[in-house]
Amino acid sequence: MNIATSDKPFAGKTAFTQSCGLGTEPVPLAPYRSAEFFERERARVFERAWLLVGREEEIAAYGDYFVAELLPGGVSTVLNRGKDGKVRAFYNTCSHRGSQVVDGPTGNARRIVCPYHNWTYAADGELLSIPDESSFFAVDRKRCGLTPMAVDTWEGWIFVNLQAEPEVGLRAFLGDFADRLAGVPYVAADKPIVLKADLDANWKVVQDAFIESYHIPAIHKRTIAETFSSNENRFARLLDARVFGPHRTVSMYGNPKMPLDPANKVEMLAYASGDTGSLIAAGTSTQMDSFLQHPAVNPTGVDCWSMDVNNLFPNTQIDFGPGGFWVHQFWPLTPNTSRYEVRFYVPDALNARQRLQQELYVARVIEVVLEDLANVARTQRGIDSSGKDHMQLQDSEVGIRHSVEQLLKWVDADSVAEALL
Ligand code: FES
Repeated sequence: MNIATSDKPFAGKTAFTQSCGLGTEPVPLAPYRSAEFFERERARVFERAWLLVGREEEIAAYGDYFVAELLPGGVSTVLNRGKDGKVRAFYNTCSHRGSQVVDGPTGNARRIVCPYHNWTYAADGELLSIPDESSFFAVDRKRCGLTPMAVDTWEGWIFVNLQAEPEVGLRAFLGDFADRLAGVPYVAADKPIVLKADLDANWKVVQDAFIESYHIPAIHKRTIAETFSSNENRFARLLDARVFGPHRTVSMYGNPKMPLDPANKVEMLAYASGDTGSLIAAGTSTQMDSFLQHPAVNPTGVDCWSMDVNNLFPNTQIDFGPGGFWVHQFWPLTPNTSRYEVRFYVPDALNARQRLQQELYVARVIEVVLEDLANVARTQRGIDSSGKDHMQLQDSEVGIRHSVEQLLKWVDADSVAEALL
């Protein structure tokens, strides 16, 4: 599941924790179960940070929209594109009696008509018409448009901010991470395959499962253990880890010598033309060439590479692999429940063999994701039992350590500028 980019062997480097400027002491579990922390995290993190909600390709044309649900209890948000080509975000709430104006999840509406009593809004949120308006009492239409939400875009990604006037702009929030990922070509970004699940685990328990590879030989021993580990790297140590303010990235090892199983005839057929040499590739090397050449993709440039996890604070992971990119998101619902969403982006298949390869890719990755999800409730139950107050994290779990460190910092900080210091 690698691509051949160099013949550099796995160096087995450690001490990422120290090189990221982090301590090595045990990490508290209270943020994973405390109701008080949950409320502070909601107010100080999710109501102050820029939150990724989708891609511009999803609303490419005038009137295209999608609905995003944010936060516990759901702040429903409508994202759309106006006649002027601008991306806008609105609270999904009618000015009349508060109904959601869009049922979602996606569609095209140049006029947004509330389903309750047909109040009608333009795509830019302006209130256009009120049925039987003369029976109302001097409604000021200009003041009764949809309520806008702060929105901005970066590299095709759409972000919203629940502060009416965000303390810090999106670019400043992303900091050096924006420079690192600038210019990554997101191939086939208009065609996500989406999987959603509500889980019995704190959102961080779920997010943590996708930013370390230490668990792979244990949890995924029947699926991808031999893909992410080998005799030269038995415990799936990371290739690289870096932090960028509140954001972080890790690069994961891939076994360059992992053979296909000749007994698996379907897989052998699908990968017979496997020009990416990858078991989790959805595209050909031609389709993926510019993506794979970007310096943020496989940043150490080794042959033994499987994938990178780019973790945008607080709750989004944009993953890069030989076959393209995919996105995980983790939304808090309660202190010990969360909503998980993963989006796989797959380019148009050029022939039947590639289509078969893509079907196998999605089925295989979902199988692995389900192995991770089956584990998170068990982890949460153990944490909730209060038998332990701290986690003992090793070096390849540096992303988890940095995540907790940053969340504690944001929860304590009186301003976003202070949190970003
Ligand atoms: Fe929307 Fe009445 S609540 S038209």
